[in-house]
Amino acid sequence: MSASGLPAVILVGGEGTRLRPLTARTPKPMLPLVDRPLLAYTFEHLARHGVDRAVLSCGYLPTQIEAHFGERHGRLALSYRVEPTPLGTGGGIRFGAEGISSTFVALNGDVLHGADLGAMLAFHRERGAAGTILLAPVDDPSRYGLVRCAEDGRVRAFVEKPRAEEIDTNLINAGLYVLEPKVLELVEPGGPVSIERDVFPRLVEAGSLYGFRLDGYWRDIGTPESYLEAHRDALERNFASELGDSLGSDYTLIAADARVAEGARLVPPVYVGAGALIEAGARVGSLAVIGAGARIGAAAEIDSAVVAAGARVGARTKVVGSIVGEQAEVGAGCQIRGLSVVGPGATVGERNMLDHGIRIAAGETISSDALTFS
Ligand code: GTP
Repeated sequence: MSASGLPAVILVGGEGTRLRPLTARTPKPMLPLVDRPLLAYTFEHLARHGVDRAVLSCGYLPTQIEAHFGERHGRLALSYRVEPTPLGTGGGIRFGAEGISSTFVALNGDVLHGADLGAMLAFHRERGAAGTILLAPVDDPSRYGLVRCAEDGRVRAFVEKPRAEEIDTNLINAGLYVLEPKVLELVEPGGPVSIERDVFPRLVEAGSLYGFRLDGYWRDIGTPESYLEAHRDALERNFASELGDSLGSDYTLIAADARVAEGARLVPPVYVGAGALIEAGARVGSLAVIGAGARIGAAAEIDSAVVAAGARVGARTKVVGSIVGEQAEVGAGCQIRGLSVVGPGATVGERNMLDHGIRIAAGETISSDALTFS
């Protein structure tokens, strides 16, 4: 069974606070994942499963999303609704689903996975469910809210912040649901409503909420750490994507007009975007993404890191396991490591050392020799 004809409501209204300062100027769904916005992967996945129209439920910095994608992405027709005030996940789904009178899929705009939507829809229909949650198995369930299900998939309980002795499943809410329109009647209009906390428990009481287990890849992108991991997964082709298809057997993608100086070293997997410049003696990779127009100085090292579009990294600077935001400028002789984030447009002067997840605000200036870590 395919999910063709199933409309989608995609939640893209969140402020992405855990990803600040990267989300200071860009809504999370528009943050680049290698060479395209995160949301493009969601669109690709929906289209691959036959979904042909999606409504985006927007709130925070909404105009960028519509300006970039417009009315369609491939075969997927797009429309946009902007909430007057943040309505929460439940309110956002209700707001986006106005006018939809058939079964639909609702999903967070910040998760990557390859869920078989056709199989999920068949599961939902066979059980006559009001709602079906996609469930992802995770290694460490203690960090999440668990979803406890009966043999036939009926959800029995949600267990938030489980104690060790309560962990009897590794399944968590993956942020994608097949819903009947009548579920929306449970969303009080007006104030913010959470689908997870306010609506789903009532469906559990009524015995009409089911869980469908995802086989395979899943990642939600909420923090700098998961954002970097998503880059690794994209470059290692851990999930299906058009980008992965274009990565060749050497796991290297260098835009035709990127310039890599003689004597610079690229270690795959690696991506170098259009118009980027890698100067002599620099070492880029493995697992490095250099955005369009970015410039990596002589003898710099970029390892397991993202240097976003238009950013500049000075000579001999090392960026390891960290993120340099768009148009940021990092001077020579710096060390940026340990999940540090340089915000978009920030300037970090020469010989600074950033570590332990430090975040430099968007547009901030750090003078030379100002930051050290022992
Ligand atoms: P954090 O602030 O870092 O927690 O990120 P977030 O704002 O994205 O929140 P979270 O990751 O919990 O949100 C899950 C999904 O719901 C994301 O796709 C958000 O864009 C979306 N979302 C969260 N709140 C709202 C809202 O009030 N309205 C809409 N339309 N979407 C929302």
